[in-house]
Amino acid sequence: MRYSANVSYLIGMDMKYSMQYMLFVLCILLLACPMVSAHDGYDLWMAYSKLDDETILKEYKQAFSSIVIQGQSETLRIIREEVKKGLDGLLGADLPICSTLTTGCSLVIGTPTQSNLMQKLDLSSELVTLGHEGFLIRAIEIDGIPSVVITANEDIGLLYGSFHLLRLMQNGQSLRDANICSRPRIQYRLLNHWDNLNGSVERGYAGRSLWKWNELPETIDPRYRDYARANASVGINGTVVNNVNANPAILTAEYIAKLKALADVFRPYGIKVFVSIRFSSPLRPTSDKNSRRGGIGSLETADPLDPDVRHWWKEKVKEIYQSIPDFGGFLVKANSEGMPGPQDYKRTHADGANMLAEALAPYSGIVMWRAFVYDPEVDPDRAKRAYKEFTPLDGQFNTNVFVQSKNGPIDFQPREPVHPLFGAMPKTPLMLELQITQEYLGHSKHLVFLAPMWKEYLEFDTHAKGQGSHVYRIVDGALHNYSMTGIAGVANTGSDRNWCGHLFGQANWYAFGRLSWDHSLSSESIAEEWIRMTLSRNNDVIKTIKSMMMGSWEACVNYMTPLGLHHIMQEGFHYGPSPDHARGRQDWTSVYYHRADSEGLGFNRSSTGSQATSQYFSPNAERFDNLKTCPEKYLLWFHHVNWDHKMESGRTLWEELCYKYNTGVNYVKEMRRKWDTLEKYIDKDIYLHVQKKLATQEKDAIVWRDTCLNYFQKFSNKPVPVFSDKVIIE
Ligand code: GCU
Repeated sequence: MRYSANVSYLIGMDMKYSMQYMLFVLCILLLACPMVSAHDGYDLWMAYSKLDDETILKEYKQAFSSIVIQGQSETLRIIREEVKKGLDGLLGADLPICSTLTTGCSLVIGTPTQSNLMQKLDLSSELVTLGHEGFLIRAIEIDGIPSVVITANEDIGLLYGSFHLLRLMQNGQSLRDANICSRPRIQYRLLNHWDNLNGSVERGYAGRSLWKWNELPETIDPRYRDYARANASVGINGTVVNNVNANPAILTAEYIAKLKALADVFRPYGIKVFVSIRFSSPLRPTSDKNSRRGGIGSLETADPLDPDVRHWWKEKVKEIYQSIPDFGGFLVKANSEGMPGPQDYKRTHADGANMLAEALAPYSGIVMWRAFVYDPEVDPDRAKRAYKEFTPLDGQFNTNVFVQSKNGPIDFQPREPVHPLFGAMPKTPLMLELQITQEYLGHSKHLVFLAPMWKEYLEFDTHAKGQGSHVYRIVDGALHNYSMTGIAGVANTGSDRNWCGHLFGQANWYAFGRLSWDHSLSSESIAEEWIRMTLSRNNDVIKTIKSMMMGSWEACVNYMTPLGLHHIMQEGFHYGPSPDHARGRQDWTSVYYHRADSEGLGFNRSSTGSQATSQYFSPNAERFDNLKTCPEKYLLWFHHVNWDHKMESGRTLWEELCYKYNTGVNYVKEMRRKWDTLEKYIDKDIYLHVQKKLATQEKDAIVWRDTCLNYFQKFSNKPVPVFSDKVIIE
């Protein structure tokens, strides 16, 4: 009303036909409209829209007439804001925030240190089991008043507990008998950003870097807080902010000031800042812009045993901790893909890592030394390299060093067998590195839910100490009694409004966090909670979307690299198929990996080939080694297989390959069909966004199938069977 009054006033001013007037009116109208687009994905899984299930709504409304939060800290301020926003949104209420319990049923939050109500409850036997990040949520009476309490040893536990409570409520879980004790199974739960200081993101498909280095430290983009909040909501507690192909400038005083500004924002959310460093940092800068080898210092050497080099690192670390007292530590890519490292000075990875570890130890900082290495010379089998370099060093690393290994021995391929290092480093904490960004899985164009893939790795039984030596027991430290435990995910976030480029990319960020907190969660349950919190609370809709997500990874494997094929994508870009790629460095080509010839297909890594199978523990080694017992999903990874080889299905290898490629394409077609049925139920912008992406995915899947089969047919000399459009999603 006010605006129209203003407009008529202006009309009276005789401006009505001028261009300026029209523009002015347009601006006024835009201002009058609510600023939010219907649903642009920015809120991630925390939109907190009002619940519509009357029964549960009634229960919650009865349970919460106020919110009591006791204590003061920046983290508690964040909790107040979050819980108020969440409860008000979900209940459609305006709940008072109080500092003590009045008569009504309440949500009560506090640690025994700061809350007299928690002291009264005496939950000490539960609290001793929670560590510094765990929490307890319990329905309990306080002074005869039915309450739900969230308590913990430290404020950060309260924040995790608050997010958990909101998650339960978003999922419509009854809180009547709530009694949940939760603590993370893994200590370091980190995102690794491959963000460059110029704002680009290596293998990033969601816009530019989130970090506006040119504005920091003066300007704090509000998005940094939203990023920290999102991570805290799923339990991520650290972030490596820059690319592993590190620019040494990250350690200059100028950047330390910027890092400090980020660390100050992240701290109350329980998130520590880490950086990737370049091993040659103590050297003087190089004039060659493309070189990965210069530094920021003035030394002539970066030899880790040189006293001046050691001193340089100690001083640098001291300088960092003066600004950032809780700085996390260093991630290092050394002697890999042109990055400098200790081997340049005939020293070992342990020599390099220990030098840094020694500098960081007084401040409780850690080193994450990456095992993603391969020779400057082309290896006869690149898959064997890391195991060969690292297993002899087991026991030689300082106690604050992780060796950080990718899930598979090559490089985040759509499917790989587990990296043989897992289980083979009993004296060295191994940190698992997963990739959330979909470098080899369709970038941010394909809907691929990665939790089932991560679960396949986590649940793999290495047999390192006999049956039951699952990867998750290595990563959480149980198998080898590691002194520290960690997991890292290469981030898929960027400056795009919806954070991840593809709305469904958010599900992978979410799933990474949830699994890093609790790897025993099932992919189904993670998918279901994410859908309910992000897209819809309608059970039929959830069922449909879940069915799309759950098979989407296997479908992607099928239309890209079925039966153990790998590394047949376009060079450099890593998108789209290029099985004929044969030029340049051999272990960057496709032919090096698929080895197609007139006899058959696949890389012979068995005892008659590269013997990579021998890097696994018995009985996996024998199982993989034998063509008859090797799981078909890894067949062409470990064996060169005759085109006429009979597969479990009764089809020949060639027929099976055709079948798998086609199955992958059909799955995508079916995902499109299913999504199209949801138009009425999904926010329009999101619906159209995903619909468009799925169309691209189908086109791409067909290109993958046709390119690969046409190419391999030149070797098999067999007809491509007629494809059926059989629907394969239940
Ligand atoms: C892959 C990726 C690179 C990255 C490297 C790494 O090779 O394509 O961009 O730098 O992995 O993990 O270090």
